[in-house]
Order: sequence, then C-alpha cells, then structure tokens
Amino acid sequence: MENIEKLKGQVVEDINKAKDIKSLEDIRVAVLGKKGSITELMKGLASLSVEEKKEMGKNLNLLKTEVEAVLETKKSELEEAELNAKLNNERIDVTLPIRPETQGRIHPVSKIYEEVVSIFGQMGFAVAEGPDIEDTFHNFTALNMPDNHPARQMHDTFYLPKEKNGSQDMDDSYVIRTHTSPVQIRTMQKQQPPIRIIAPGRTYRSDYDATHTPMFHQVEGLVIDKNITMAHLKGCLYDFVKTFFELDEIPVRYRPSFFPFTEPSAEMDIGCLKTKSEIKIGAGNDWLEILGCGMVHPNVLRAGGIDPEVYQGFAFGVGMDRLAMLKYGIPDLRTFFESDVRWLKNYGFAPLDESSMTNGLSNNGGQTR
Ligand code: PHE
Repeated sequence: MENIEKLKGQVVEDINKAKDIKSLEDIRVAVLGKKGSITELMKGLASLSVEEKKEMGKNLNLLKTEVEAVLETKKSELEEAELNAKLNNERIDVTLPIRPETQGRIHPVSKIYEEVVSIFGQMGFAVAEGPDIEDTFHNFTALNMPDNHPARQMHDTFYLPKEKNGSQDMDDSYVIRTHTSPVQIRTMQKQQPPIRIIAPGRTYRSDYDATHTPMFHQVEGLVIDKNITMAHLKGCLYDFVKTFFELDEIPVRYRPSFFPFTEPSAEMDIGCLKTKSEIKIGAGNDWLEILGCGMVHPNVLRAGGIDPEVYQGFAFGVGMDRLAMLKYGIPDLRTFFESDVRWLKNYGFAPLDESSMTNGLSNNGGQTR
C-alpha cells in the first residue's frame, strides 16, 4: 500500500513536469505500457493469496485510473499550450505598414513598361506578344527584307544553330529577334483590321557599350485601318511623348529615314537641352532621336495577308531602356542588367506606386525614389 502511494506520488510528479506531448507519452509507456511499472505490479498479482489479490487488485486498479486521469488532463493542457504557441508564432499583423519597410524595388524597365502600356492602353491599343526565338521569315523576310537584303546586315543578329539530321550546322532559319517588328506580322496573320496594338518585349543584338547591351527592350506600335495617314502617326506619337515625359508641350521633329518595312520612314526627335552633366527634355536647342516610324510598306501588309489597296497603317519602334535612361537620368545602360541591389535601390521604384493615367504615370513626387 505504501509502495503504491509512493509510486503514485512519483508518477504524478513526473507527469506534471512533462514539457511536451512526447515526454508525456514516454511517461505513459513507462508506467502503463507493456513493461510499465503499474503493468508489472499487476502481473505480480498472480503470485498473491486470494485475500491479498483482492485488496491489491483494487488498489492497483484505482491507481491506474487515477494515473490515466492525470495523464489525460496534462495532455490536454500541453496540447492547448502547443496550439497557442503555434498560433502566436504564425500570427500576421495585417495592419503593419508596408512602406517604408518594403525593401523590394521595381526595375526602371518594368516601370517604363507599365507607363507605356497605360498610355497606349488609354488610346485604345491592345498589347500583343511574339516569341523571343523567331524565324527569319517573321524577323526579316515578311518585313520586306528578303534573303541577302543588305538591311539584314544592319542588325547584328544572333543566329541560332539549326538541327539538321541530328547534326548542328549554322543556318539562318532561327534568330533571337533583333526587333519587335515581327510581332507586326504575327498580329496581321491572326487578325484583320482594324488593328491597334503595341508589342513590348525583349530584343537582341550583338552590341555592347554604354548605350547598347546584347539584350534590350523595345515597344512596337502598329495601327492598320482604312484611310490611315501620316497625320495619324504624328498625332499619336506626339501625344505619346508628351504624356510619357509628363510635359504640357514638347518640341518634336521628323527626319526622313529608311526602314525596309515602312515607306515613307522617319525618325522622331524631341527637343532638349544637352549640358555636360545632363539632358533636359522639352527645352533648349538640341535634338534627341527617340524612335523610328513610318507608314507600313505594302509588301509587309501583303505578307501579313492584308490588302494594301484597302488598308493602310503606320508603325513605330521605340527603345524602352533608352526611354528609361532619358526619363530617369540613368547614364549607363549596362548597369540595368547587372542585378546590383544597390543600383536598384537607387533607381528602382516603390512597388505600390502603380503607373496609371488616372493616378499619375511615374508618381515622381519625391517618395518613389
Ligand atoms: N524595327 C525598327 C528597329 O528596330 C524600328 C521601327 C519599327 C521602325 C517600326 C519603323 C517602324 O530599328
């Protein structure tokens, strides 16, 4: 009897000291398991006299019931504590302010992308896409640059090796696109006029200096409908640059140029003031080339399955990285793609300042950078 009381005291003490469910389970096994101390005592009953067996059996059963109850209570206590700890740990304070704690920044190219899409979106343009790996038909031929056309040399093209009968030999069947103009063709092949799209995306040329990187970004524009003239082109692009640079007025001029896929072709310049240290857009007597454009060549319309006798159109191509450099005063293009977080911290944008025509394009009111 004394032994039983002692054992009970010990077991209850152990149970109360248990720190987690696992150690509680260990105690249960040590006491009530197959070889547990109470189980052993119960096995020992067999060797006792009938009288003793009766008395001892009753006490042991009582002990067992009591220990089980204490175990059960402790178990629910521990379970509750574990749940509370978990809930506390995983709690998210949704009221915490996001800024200025947010470290992430939007890359200037992504910012320009958003700005360009919102401006043209407002004008009723849709966004079109094409593949980075392009066939020479879409990248050149359909754009009025047949095989051996000297204009193909104007682009420092990356050609992809073509697999032929299992062997790799150089063939000009595939390139990584040198411009976004192939998306013009892909759009025309899919859709009859009226067409009004922009096609922003990555483009590639083998070139590397402060204003050229092998991968860069362009946005293509294409409008095709009946009675489209160069006046539409000029109006559209003027509205674009004015809105993009967030100016009430901006001097622009068009210089005659050449692209095989437009006729006539032009380059658009915007007025600026160039000093040693910076370029100020919208004032001064200097000019800055900003984009290439023109009226879609009849051969290009034909290649896209559109009748040039019925439809006309204009197209343009703008370097988006260049737009970013000009608008945000970033001097070296190569730094765009070095993935240096210090650079991004300096030139990047707060993630919640989304560009839109209603809330402001760049939100450049001092808090973005
Ligand atoms: N694709 C031309 C380039 O990359 C730009 C351009 C596009 C010019 C559309 C005219 C019309 O230089």
